[in-house]
Amino acid sequence: MITPVALQEELDVYSIRNQFPVLSREVKGKPLVYFDNAATTQKPQVVIDALVDYYSNYNANIHRGIHSLAEEATAAFEKTRDAVKQFIKAPSREQIVFTRGATEGINLIAYSWGRQNIKTGDELIISAMEHHSNIVPWQMLCEEKGAVLKVIPFNEAGELRMDVFGQLISPKTKLVSVVHVSNSLGTVNPVKQIIEKAHSVGAIVVVDGAQSTVHLDIDVQDMNCDFFVFSGHKLYGPTGTGVLYGKQHLLESMPPFLGGGEMIKEVSFEKTTYNEIPYKFEAGTPNIADIVALKTAFDFINSIGKQRIRDHENELLAYATEQLDMIPQLKIIGQAKEKISVISFILDNIHPQDAGILLDNSGIAVRTGHHCTQPCMKVFGIPGTIRASFAVYNTKEEIDVLIKGLHKVIKMLS
Ligand SMILES: Cc1ncc(COP(=O)(O)O)c(C=O)c1O
Repeated sequence: MITPVALQEELDVYSIRNQFPVLSREVKGKPLVYFDNAATTQKPQVVIDALVDYYSNYNANIHRGIHSLAEEATAAFEKTRDAVKQFIKAPSREQIVFTRGATEGINLIAYSWGRQNIKTGDELIISAMEHHSNIVPWQMLCEEKGAVLKVIPFNEAGELRMDVFGQLISPKTKLVSVVHVSNSLGTVNPVKQIIEKAHSVGAIVVVDGAQSTVHLDIDVQDMNCDFFVFSGHKLYGPTGTGVLYGKQHLLESMPPFLGGGEMIKEVSFEKTTYNEIPYKFEAGTPNIADIVALKTAFDFINSIGKQRIRDHENELLAYATEQLDMIPQLKIIGQAKEKISVISFILDNIHPQDAGILLDNSGIAVRTGHHCTQPCMKVFGIPGTIRASFAVYNTKEEIDVLIKGLHKVIKMLS
């Protein structure tokens, strides 16, 4: 059962924490402080229970079975599609394609839409703060097609240079693919503005919502993006789950990505015809159990309310920024005005990796390194950062533990 936290006035973070079994464990003899939420969030008991329930009671392959278990499994799987439709305000359930994650979603677009539509001399635009999964598929496509990849730079605060974007975009631009929220800087990008500009020259826009979907209210119709991708594991859901949303006419016009069962209408050696969307893009047995359980992650978030989650996380971000700013040997990387609860920083003369190892000895899980954004790190002239990223279950007390841990690191290593 999900605790109906939404009925309470204040967000009761301790009751929320109680729903996450892993948060009560110790690491190296210290209570776990989990600040690696941008990499993956922990899972509430309802999600874990949904997985156990599926395997214990109605595990079956979906869509083609006529027996009861197959029908129950299919119904549960398709219920998640309805939940996604609501969560991102998609116009129809047919526009929701299940993938393994944001990476697969972007690759699907690059292979299917990209190989059908991109020609020699065309231009694609991404930004300098993209995750590698929103760089490499486009580089591969450009290499194959002789197209040109252009990059929107960002300023010192980590905000996109929209003036430069205005100069890069032209009738040659066929696709713009940008991250909604940067995983290494926390910047929230002005995607609506980007989409409007891109559409004015006839380009389509892919929004990488891997980091934004858990924090921000997503309305793909209002945003008017052509594609939107995200991963379930970053929003309290199971690993191996993801979503690709696309505009109907685009999805319908695109060739399949993978061939196999489920994605066909009829197969013969003479000619194979393909299934309707979204099944055209869901070849083979999908990740049924995890996608079934993903629905309970949406239920969990909805039961609290995104606004309240955001308020709590923003409070944590403000508190952490204030506390970290007081450490003279520390520099925050990424100071955009519009930011969500990701805070990256470096310490004078201390390698992020060494700091991460010492923090782990105090039970604190942070991410260190380039965060799969090497070009972004290069702009700052650093190999990587220490990154703390917050979720609904984190507390100010945990930030105090981090600050104490950092003082210890500085004392030992500088
Ligand atoms: C901004 C961004 N895009 C894409 C991804 C890729 O997500 P996944 O590895 O779940 O496919 C991540 C993961 O960290 C991310 O932060």
